[in-house]
Amino acid sequence: MKFRKKVLWKISFVIFLMILINSYSGIQGGLERNITSNIIPNILNQFSKRFKIQRLLLIRSKEVITYNGRNISTDFELFYMNVSTIKLMDPLVHKHRYTSLLNTGTTCTEKHVFLLVLVYSATYKFDERHVIRETFGSMSQYDNRHIKYVFVLGQTMNDTQQKEIEQESVKYRDIIQGNFIDSYRNLTYKRVFSLFWVNRFCNNVMYVIKIDDDITINIPVLIPYLSNKLNKTKVLECFLLTKARPRRGKRNKWYTSQSDYPFATFPPYCAGPSSIMSADVIREMYEATTIMPFFWLEDVYGGGFLPWISRVRIVQPKRYIKALRASLKDKTCHLFYINNSKNTNHSYIMWKNIQNKLYKCQ
Ligand SMILES: *[C@@H]1O[C@H](CO)[C@@H](O)[C@H](O)[C@H]1NC(C)=O
Ligand SMILES: *[C@@H]1O[C@H](CO)[C@@H](O)[C@H](O)[C@H]1NC(C)=O
Ligand SMILES: *[C@@H]1O[C@H](CO)[C@@H](O)[C@H](O)[C@H]1NC(C)=O
Ligand SMILES: *[C@@H]1O[C@H](CO)[C@@H](O)[C@H](O)[C@H]1NC(C)=O
Ligand SMILES: *[C@@H]1O[C@H](CO)[C@@H](O)[C@H](O)[C@H]1NC(C)=O
Ligand SMILES: *[C@@H]1O[C@H](CO)[C@@H](O)[C@H](O)[C@H]1NC(C)=O
Ligand SMILES: *[C@@H]1O[C@H](CO)[C@@H](O)[C@H](O)[C@H]1NC(C)=O
Repeated sequence: MKFRKKVLWKISFVIFLMILINSYSGIQGGLERNITSNIIPNILNQFSKRFKIQRLLLIRSKEVITYNGRNISTDFELFYMNVSTIKLMDPLVHKHRYTSLLNTGTTCTEKHVFLLVLVYSATYKFDERHVIRETFGSMSQYDNRHIKYVFVLGQTMNDTQQKEIEQESVKYRDIIQGNFIDSYRNLTYKRVFSLFWVNRFCNNVMYVIKIDDDITINIPVLIPYLSNKLNKTKVLECFLLTKARPRRGKRNKWYTSQSDYPFATFPPYCAGPSSIMSADVIREMYEATTIMPFFWLEDVYGGGFLPWISRVRIVQPKRYIKALRASLKDKTCHLFYINNSKNTNHSYIMWKNIQNKLYKCQ
């Protein structure tokens, strides 16, 4: 029975391939007369893109993705399955025409970096960056594992602010700034820019973590946790959201129109504040951006759509993340703490607690 299915599948694949080759040569024949030859690779490119989508769909239709017994693949497939190539022409998201207006000046090859931490920070958040540099961000090594911290920024229209950022960059060499306006609706550009940057300048790291600038990382727990994975690939760990729906109220901060995303549910995705990824996952998600239409909700796009198409399974570890204020008197056993305290001192207290830990977390 199984064998029969396999053969059938193979036959339909070959037929599909033939149709594809046929239609390609048809178009090429039609174009030869009046279009210069450098158009051809473009068309080829688009076909291979289409082909890739179709191939993914074939794989997908064989392997139904379920979560807690629920079938989650169907709605979402339609989002990119029938997408017109016009929606895959964004110079930043799909063509990767990024430039770093500011860069760190060092790559990860110079030191053998085990963990790269990407801190997504808004341009004006000077204080938050300062707190990070003075707390966990000061720890560039743990258990002989090198850690590199990079703040990911977009552009600002405020020249004074830009000057200040440039000074900050000269001083700390830990800022990268991409060629898009830094705004909430542009966060997906920030996500793809950071994938681009890792691939271009830091592709030899073992693990990458993306966090917002209100997160404290429990480095003394996290580094052993990652080291125990023994070079595992296909790692994507985060706080997993499984039943999220697009907000349809026009006044909602996350209002999503029907034309932006027409379906009732999102596929499971990683909540924005933090994610752990192995380097191979970064590479695959970067490639997946070329066939995924832009969607402005960065966590849904980068933490849901891209992993989904890259066939990466999302895992939520035990004791992943906790609110900072409620944890000041607890054992510091969570991997991440999220700032919910108006008192900046609390971030310093938390970091002190983390460093002074005299107990085992198990
Ligand atoms: C999930 O949906 C697909 C497509 O409609 C269907 O073929 C499959 O049987 C469904 N699987 C489950 C477990 O409901
Ligand atoms: C695909 O797109 C075409 C044109 O936009 C539309 O007519 C068709 O209904 C779509 N098919 C699906 C399955 O969404
Ligand atoms: C521009 O940036 C400076 C320095 O960060 C700030 O003091 C000022 O309020 C900003 N101006 C505007 C219009 O946002
Ligand atoms: C970014 O956001 C601003 C305003 O929110 C917008 O004007 C701009 O076109 C967006 N896109 C890029 C690529 O900067
Ligand atoms: C993990 O990778 C590092 C660097 O590539 C290598 O030196 C080490 O031997 C690897 N460890 C295991 C257990 O495979
Ligand atoms: C934490 O968040 C509050 C706002 O909720 C802010 O006032 C405070 O500066 C933040 N602290 C740090 C260290 O980012
Ligand atoms: C933060 O700590 C400083 C120095 O210990 C202290 O002077 C200040 O009052 C504290 N701030 C708050 C809001 O507790």
